Amino acid sequence: MEQRSQWGSRMGFLLAAIGSAVGLGNIWRFPATAYENGGGAFFIPYLFALLTAGIPLLIMEYTIGHKYRSSSPRSFSKISKGMEWIGWWQVLISFVISTYYPIIIAWAIMYTYYSIGTKWGDDTTNFFVTDFLSLSDPGVFGSIVPNVMIPLLIVWLVAFIILGKGIKKGIEVANRIFIPTLLIVFIFIVIRALTLPGALDGVDAFFKPDWSKIMDGSVWVAAYGQIFFSLSIAFAIMITYSSYLPKKSDITNNAFITGFANSSFELLAGIGVFAVLGFMALQTSQPIDEVVKGGVGLAFMAFPEIINQMPAASLFGVLFFASLVLAGISSMISISETYISAVQEKFSISRKMAVAFGGGLACIFSLFYANQGGLNLLDTVDYFINNYGVALAGLFEVVAIAWFARSLKDLQNHADAVSDIKLGVWWRFCLSVVTPVVLGYMMLQNLKTDLS
Ligand code: PFF
Ligand code: NA
Repeated sequence: MEQRSQWGSRMGFLLAAIGSAVGLGNIWRFPATAYENGGGAFFIPYLFALLTAGIPLLIMEYTIGHKYRSSSPRSFSKISKGMEWIGWWQVLISFVISTYYPIIIAWAIMYTYYSIGTKWGDDTTNFFVTDFLSLSDPGVFGSIVPNVMIPLLIVWLVAFIILGKGIKKGIEVANRIFIPTLLIVFIFIVIRALTLPGALDGVDAFFKPDWSKIMDGSVWVAAYGQIFFSLSIAFAIMITYSSYLPKKSDITNNAFITGFANSSFELLAGIGVFAVLGFMALQTSQPIDEVVKGGVGLAFMAFPEIINQMPAASLFGVLFFASLVLAGISSMISISETYISAVQEKFSISRKMAVAFGGGLACIFSLFYANQGGLNLLDTVDYFINNYGVALAGLFEVVAIAWFARSLKDLQNHADAVSDIKLGVWWRFCLSVVTPVVLGYMMLQNLKTDLS
């Protein structure tokens, strides 16, 4: 039997795990979420969620991967035969995400190019909606948007090359280049942003605590939701990545490092984005409240408009959109690896076959979003994946491990044997009580909002 691939070094694994964690969630999801949920006061539920759910689950997933050395479905089936489907559910979610995540990377590639000479003109919203996406006639399926199609194929080509080369020569090498580059570029952007007029007012608004929010259940749900998404938990990713760890690897320490690195990047992004929003508020004499945005609207409509008013606009634009591309590709590779490894094991095929088959299928599906009307489809799919798919996957995972298989103690012994930090009863309590309760509550809240 072929020997299982391994990371070349601890740093290689950490960079890949951080590469998966650091993505669009840090850059455009976190800043707006924090602001809307109490600003500085949000850090309390956020840190609480990180320590009671994020890092404990990360430790659990790393331990499962390290112990069973298999893809997510096979790892679950090794814990208990009847649990294989939990792994497949996670893999399915990752597969679906990998059909639309690359679309956003494709946009960012085009916008990196448009940055040179700020080709988006003065009306950046109209440019994005009408000129770029041709959404003036939304809902018409079947007419392909070449602006999106070409960069999309480039994204897939890059992903195929990296994934095809395998764990050490492909994924590890890519992350060793992408993540340090991303960090340097991003620090440069944040410093530039902080030296713009009005920047400090923006940062001030970001950190200003609204303590009244702290008692609000929805704020806590937002904090846990952000942590799950941001740490790429319950997507089968971290189980898959840690299955390539060498036998002697400190699991618990690695989980803390991943968690804190991701949150540091989130904080950095929050400061950078709000510095820029502060500048925008000053330029347009609007209150900061009016200019706060997240998601697609922030990156592809508000940012180009702000960039227009900056000195050395083209340079700032190129760096900003290039960092979206880098952050995006490293996350996308990690999602695709989940089904590639699962399919490879299930059908005993070569890695290259699995990449061609799994990635090829995802690539074909992704073309649907490059149609006119693709944006609406993307929004809908993304909504259901985030609000139900992931929460359910996390819930199944912890309940199955903690309550049905009762394997937490076993996993704890495994982690403790290789780790410096020893896990205590706090760890089992977080996973068997806190996380299931929070995820269950989250599901109910989402259902309530959707049904009303
Ligand atoms: N953790 C990534 C982020 O914060 O942007 C997002 C992500 C990556 C979500 C990979 C899902 C995924 F499969
Ligand atoms: Na993240």
